Amino acid sequence: MMQNHYFILLLHLLLHLTGLAKSDPEALYDYCVAETKTHPNIFLNSVPCINPDHTLASHFWTSALSEGGSMNQFDFNVTLTNVNNLGGLNTLGLAMARIDIAVNGLVPPHSHPRASELTILLEGSLLVGFVDTSNRLYTQRLRPGDSFVFPKALIHFLYNTDISSPALAVSGLTSQNPGAQLSSLAAFASHPPLPDDVLRKGFKINGQDVARIRRNLGG
Ligand SMILES: *[C@@H]1O[C@H](CO)[C@@H](O)[C@H](O)[C@H]1NC(C)=O
Repeated sequence: MMQNHYFILLLHLLLHLTGLAKSDPEALYDYCVAETKTHPNIFLNSVPCINPDHTLASHFWTSALSEGGSMNQFDFNVTLTNVNNLGGLNTLGLAMARIDIAVNGLVPPHSHPRASELTILLEGSLLVGFVDTSNRLYTQRLRPGDSFVFPKALIHFLYNTDISSPALAVSGLTSQNPGAQLSSLAAFASHPPLPDDVLRKGFKINGQDVARIRRNLGG
């Protein structure tokens, strides 16, 4: 009896662990090319599929990452595959990102709530790093050809310290919809804004600091 009990416990533990290791929900079909043209009134935990009879090779193709987008206030741009530019990605549990970082640009500390990220640097040089939940920092300098992995949900950054050449990197992510939350914008540029007192006390700064950081970040 006792052995049986432990066996079931072990089985539960294993199932639980494998469940935790999964990213997006398991797909029920070979593929489920996203139907994005109609706006459904029902929201599923992904996008509905088009009829497989109408699936084309082009649904599994995209040139979305062939060019970088325009630089933002931090001098970087991220272009991501998603169900709109690559319908065949739907339900497969992965995405790819092209990351362009201008000279001395920074992808500021941010996290992806639903994905781990594996980055390969193609051009330039980068200082990358992440902070774990005990606030331990891991940093590394990357040369072209080097890769670095950012564990799921942990706050990380990519900094182009080079003052003469831009950096180009590509990332694989373990979700079709990784999500991204920039720490600074979440704190100082939310809509509506966080109460001043929360920011003053949380960052141990005064009201003028709060106003200045908000202004600088366009919040
Ligand atoms: C990247 O560029 C595209 C197109 O120029 C723009 O729509 C997008 O908001 C930019 N993304 C970031 C993160 O800067």
